[in-house]
Amino acid sequence: MHMNKNFTEQGDTVYQCAEHKAAQYFAALYKQVMDKTYVPILTKDIQLWKKNHIPQRSWLAFFTRGKRAAVSRDYQKYLEWLNYTGKLDDYLDRSVSYIYMRDLGKALDDSRTKTRIQRVVTDLKGHLMHSGANEREDQPGLTGLTSLAGFYRWAQREGIESAAIWVIDKLKNVSSHIPEEMDAEQAERKLIKIIVGVILHVIEEMDEQTTSAERAHRLDEAIRIGYSYGLTYPFIDDLLDSQVLTAPEKEQYSAMIRTALLTGNVPELSEWPGVHLEIIQYVHTELKAAFEYIKSLQKPETEATFFEQSYVFFHSQDIDRNKDLAKADYTNEELYIPVILKSSSSRLIVRSVISASEDKGFDERTFFYGIYNQLADDFADMYDDMRDGAVTPYTYYLKYRKQRPDLINPYELYWTVISYLIHNVYHSDAKTLEVMIDRAINGLKRCKERVGTEQYNEIMEIFASGNPEFNRLIQLMVRKADDVDFFDKLLRDQINTQLKNDRMEKEKFQTTIRTVRDQINDLLKIPRPAGIPPMKESLIEAANYSLTGDGKRIRPILTWVLGVEVYGLQSAAIEPLLRSLEFMHTASLIFDDLPSQDNAPTRRGRPTLHQVHNSATAELTGLYLIQKAIQEQASLQAFNPVTVLALMQYSAEKAEDMCMGQAMDLHSKGKAMTLEQLNMMCFYKTGLAFEASLVMPAILAGVQSAEIEALKKFAYHAGIAFQIKDDLLDLEGDHHLLGKNTRMDAENNNSTFVSVLGPEAARIEMWDHYCHAVEALNAVPRKISFLNHLLDYIINRNR
Ligand code: IPE
Ligand code: IPE
Ligand code: MG
Ligand code: MG
Ligand code: MG
Repeated sequence: MHMNKNFTEQGDTVYQCAEHKAAQYFAALYKQVMDKTYVPILTKDIQLWKKNHIPQRSWLAFFTRGKRAAVSRDYQKYLEWLNYTGKLDDYLDRSVSYIYMRDLGKALDDSRTKTRIQRVVTDLKGHLMHSGANEREDQPGLTGLTSLAGFYRWAQREGIESAAIWVIDKLKNVSSHIPEEMDAEQAERKLIKIIVGVILHVIEEMDEQTTSAERAHRLDEAIRIGYSYGLTYPFIDDLLDSQVLTAPEKEQYSAMIRTALLTGNVPELSEWPGVHLEIIQYVHTELKAAFEYIKSLQKPETEATFFEQSYVFFHSQDIDRNKDLAKADYTNEELYIPVILKSSSSRLIVRSVISASEDKGFDERTFFYGIYNQLADDFADMYDDMRDGAVTPYTYYLKYRKQRPDLINPYELYWTVISYLIHNVYHSDAKTLEVMIDRAINGLKRCKERVGTEQYNEIMEIFASGNPEFNRLIQLMVRKADDVDFFDKLLRDQINTQLKNDRMEKEKFQTTIRTVRDQINDLLKIPRPAGIPPMKESLIEAANYSLTGDGKRIRPILTWVLGVEVYGLQSAAIEPLLRSLEFMHTASLIFDDLPSQDNAPTRRGRPTLHQVHNSATAELTGLYLIQKAIQEQASLQAFNPVTVLALMQYSAEKAEDMCMGQAMDLHSKGKAMTLEQLNMMCFYKTGLAFEASLVMPAILAGVQSAEIEALKKFAYHAGIAFQIKDDLLDLEGDHHLLGKNTRMDAENNNSTFVSVLGPEAARIEMWDHYCHAVEALNAVPRKISFLNHLLDYIINRNR
């Protein structure tokens, strides 16, 4: 692809203009770092600062310090400990203040900002401590902030369910399309961070006067914009950083992006110079949609700024990316100006992407601020970057410091920037000073913890030996100073831990499903003893035909997991129960498919039983399977007969109710139903079988009734969610994957969540049940993570 020469020139002009401004900033920093003026200034600042951070030695302090270290792994407990010791307010205040400064570009000495921060701190504390400040909070505490259910509940309160569902699906899609060489989790994390950033900006633009409809509208847009803009991180920067594409592919891809930013139109994909067309096609489609969405929302007066900033962002990253660590002669300007530009433009864009009106103060502060973060991040990543051969100020300095005495020490520049920000940008504001030094000391503390004292000392030897006295003060603070930690770091740690656990649990979930399914499949086939009457033989054969189809076996799998893994029953002892559940379920499917009911031609990947034989055979086979199921229950010999009788009574009752559910279903054809009726119908026809799968092993294990009630509540919501998904799949699913015909509900004029409410509202109801089910699980005294993953599976399945 060749770009029009005019556009190339236009790009050059835009970039040169930005470069000029960055060069001025760099010159100011250069002077300060050379003069070392930051040393006396910051020494004085830190002397003042440390009064609030070096704890007075007392026996009490000794104990509380020990306690703190012990609990710091459990994030919620840590917050509670902070609250208990009276430190939570300061902790949240410094954390929120920092976010207001860094992410929202605010000045902390502004009175309106102060009020805002105070309010956020109070709300956040109420939420975290569940002090009743937010009565509608469904999932208080830290997990309420970081879980999917917590996010969805928030979206519900704001009335933006559709956007929430949209973005959840998008994120899932992105991580499934990320090439293996790239880190899907990291991409997802980054995207989430950008989306949250955009949402925060939009919230900041609103006030008490904003009506709730307007608020919902803007937040809905914020989510979509956040995703659209955030997409550029994995799909532009990270993709080009990675080794996925070949050099000619990268070149063509970069050219496409430049053209889009300079012309305002995404070019079509033409011939592609490499083998990665498939991924590029996906990326191109997503980015094009994202680009057009953002463009469609731009106000005429901000559009130009948006494109310019985006171009500067892209181009500065591109320059940085293409630097070569083997090249020994980069000047300080060549090293630092792109850094200033890429780090500031990435944040400056966030306001123009939401088409916010111009704010000079924001632009100024954000422009100066960027490099601070970049230097902090690059410091933390320096050894990874070194390994990858990436040029950052740190890696370059590590490599060339001996032969290039003219090179600026990036660590010294880092402190210079801090001093410059506090005194030149934020007018020596006390709060800013407090927060910035907290953050800087915290960064070093974290680094020391991460790499260990030995390597940390080596790093300091290299970077900090130029100012021994200043360094002694800093290292004293790193060792002794307290109360410098931040909530956003805790959130990040919590999310990382959560994602890691999640991934491990999910793998385990999938393995369990697979192995237990195989095990169950081996149990299902009904034997044909020699010498039985031919009529019975053909019934058994018909039953086996239905049983051995490609069923998912979810119900008996659930029973196995609960019975064996959670309640410790012997696997062999509950085999009859597993069989009985699948027999009952299969019978219900045979009846459901009959011409007198749903008249379905296929099931479990094969023609339905009545198609192969006739309705009479199908009916008799259904009855036969139900009797077989009861026989199985009656042969649960490893258990107390009284318990088995209780189980059988429960089972018969539920089977009765399921018949009622099917009757309601058939009765409702073509009728409008209320939400309440829909829920009731689905609970009876579908939810009860899930309930039974959980409750029956619990009965056998003699579990307390409170726990059984919590399981029932979970099953109620999970079961209805399962049926709504079934209704959605009937409309949108793939019949090959499903093994049954789709569009049956419309053909039969069935009343389902989808036919009554429409797919969009049905999805919203499904998510509401999802959240209720998660909340019900939280109330179960023991953590049964399998059920959490089952829920995810239920709403994400495609068969
Ligand atoms: C289908 O159940 C009947 C409904 C309750 C929607 P499944 O979707 O579990 O069917 P199989 O057992 O995998 O065939
Ligand atoms: C079936 O609901 C409920 C049963 C318990 C049989 P559906 O009629 O929607 O199930 P499918 O779609 O045929 O599997
Ligand atoms: Mg039906
Ligand atoms: Mg059906
Ligand atoms: Mg169905």
